[in-house]
Amino acid sequence: MSGTVTTPTIIENAPIETWFGVGGRADRLVRPESVEEVAWCVRSGERLRVLGEGANLLVHDDGVDGLVVDLGEMKSVRLDAESGLVSAQAGVDLRHLINKTARAGLAGIEVLAGIPATVGGAVFMNAGGRFGSIADVVRSVEVVRPSGAVERLDRESIAFGYRSSGIVGIITEAEFALEVGDAAACLERRNACMAYKRDSQPLDGRSAGCCFKNPTLVHGVEGVGEAGQRVSAGMLIDRAGCKGLRHGLASVSTAHANFLLADRYGGRAADVIELMEIVVHRVQETFGVTLEREVVVWERGR
Ligand code: EPU
Repeated sequence: MSGTVTTPTIIENAPIETWFGVGGRADRLVRPESVEEVAWCVRSGERLRVLGEGANLLVHDDGVDGLVVDLGEMKSVRLDAESGLVSAQAGVDLRHLINKTARAGLAGIEVLAGIPATVGGAVFMNAGGRFGSIADVVRSVEVVRPSGAVERLDRESIAFGYRSSGIVGIITEAEFALEVGDAAACLERRNACMAYKRDSQPLDGRSAGCCFKNPTLVHGVEGVGEAGQRVSAGMLIDRAGCKGLRHGLASVSTAHANFLLADRYGGRAADVIELMEIVVHRVQETFGVTLEREVVVWERGR
């Protein structure tokens, strides 16, 4: 019936799938299938936690309160190979989007190959790496505001920064302006980015990609960089002697020190969280640089 807003089903004591593969359950979880259902969640007045693929998320072992809004059902993609305009819902896996656009010969987003994210998460935190950031190709974003109002934001009105978008609300869809090009060239660039990552990062371990943001130096550090320069967190963690460091059932990757890994069997969120604290402390002591987490941590009451 037109005009009818369906209400999503609330599931109690639901498991939360994350790339770390550790952590507790959600007291309550919903899987909205439309922007209207997302707006319904916002209007419920509950404390919400938005879940994409769990690619950049660590959940405490005793789970989380509030209402977890799992956007995994919102995964439609519209692609216009002639104009290069592509719309993807927030729950679309970034890898899937990259494969689809690259095969259609649409260029610009394939340079993000290998970054673990959904479209919503990637736009919200302006995911990126050595070859570019998602902000480079965003044209507009649909967002449900805290009031429940649905708005479309133009690129110009979004204050993208390093690993941030400043967007307030829940992103439900993003529109990308890609360049019409050649599929073979796009796929080749995607493969080259993946190859770079495979050579330097532990892509098969249980991690959430990079754990810390690359910091901007507030003072010069000898042999590292000048004040104002952004440097690799992985390099700092490595040089602070943390590569391979183990704490309980968690460890710092030996391939790339900004990847923290949870053991495949019996891994605990608490070990990963404590290891993060140890790493922050060591980098602080060695270089006087404070690392800020890129990975989002969920815990009860926070
Ligand atoms: N390096 C080390 N030791 C390490 C890791 C890196 O010495 O353990 C050195 C490298 O040799 C290189 C420099 O640090 O000279 C930079 O390393 P890299 O190219 O891997 O880039 P990064 O700045 O550490 C960023 C993104 C990654 C993205 C890569 C490549 C952040 C926090 N990280 O890492 O993103 O994959 O560039 O594009 O911005 C992610 O966000 O999940 C992520 C993995």
